[in-house]
Amino acid sequence: MSPNPLPSTDGASAPSPSTVAQSFYTRWATLYDAIARRTPGVGSVRTEAADALGLSSGDTVVEMGCGTGANLPYLADRVGPDGTVVGLDFSPGVLDVARERVRDYPNVHLVRADATQPPVDDADAVLATFVSGMFADPDAVVSSWADLVGPGGRLCLVDLARTTAPTWRALNPLFRALVRVTAPPGTRTMHGSPTAMLDERLVAAHQALESRCYDVNATTHAFGFARVRAGIVE
Ligand SMILES: C[S@@+](CC[C@H](N)C(=O)[O-])C[C@H]1O[C@@H](n2cnc3c(N)ncnc32)[C@H](O)[C@@H]1O
Repeated sequence: MSPNPLPSTDGASAPSPSTVAQSFYTRWATLYDAIARRTPGVGSVRTEAADALGLSSGDTVVEMGCGTGANLPYLADRVGPDGTVVGLDFSPGVLDVARERVRDYPNVHLVRADATQPPVDDADAVLATFVSGMFADPDAVVSSWADLVGPGGRLCLVDLARTTAPTWRALNPLFRALVRVTAPPGTRTMHGSPTAMLDERLVAAHQALESRCYDVNATTHAFGFARVRAGIVE
């Protein structure tokens, strides 16, 4: 691990989107945790994402934006006691919840840091679930994760976006409303639709994975709203 200064959370000017997001996820950590674990179907998406990384005993896997740690037990079980799981997030409140969750997993380490500049030198795999939409430049961030794991390393992204499944498109207005209500305030007040921004960022992140990986596997879940994409870095 190398030093990684977090974006400042003080100062006189308007708070940055990063500062707003950290306060938002810290304030709502307990509620977010319930949603992250109890939403119908989310457990099978998390299982699929962990499986898609093709982890072996002894591997090191980093979860970027781990939130309250809903994925961490899945990862810890797959790398075993000789492996290492790093859960990285910039919001202290969610890390407090995650710490409780992984109390019985000595091989899971939680780090408060910025996922766009992770203080990690080496890993076998990187997972990021429901996070790509929070990066201003998802293409660059995902590319930097590909550099981090290097050739043969694995990446997996899971993200939400409007569904393109014809049967379920009628639910897109409901999805838009949910995104508007649940997005951190900084993203709600910005110009344009937060859902359109989410879609654009998902596409950019997943295209970056496609361009850096081979053996890419992509699936959709939850009526097409959840997209899982995983591959091996070239
Ligand atoms: C929607 S939550 C997803 C949490 C978790 N991955 C899950 O599947 O439940 C997004 C998380 O990403 C974190 N996050 C967003 N941008 C980040 C960044 N640049 N660095 C670190 N964490 C970030 C937030 O603090 C929040 O915990």
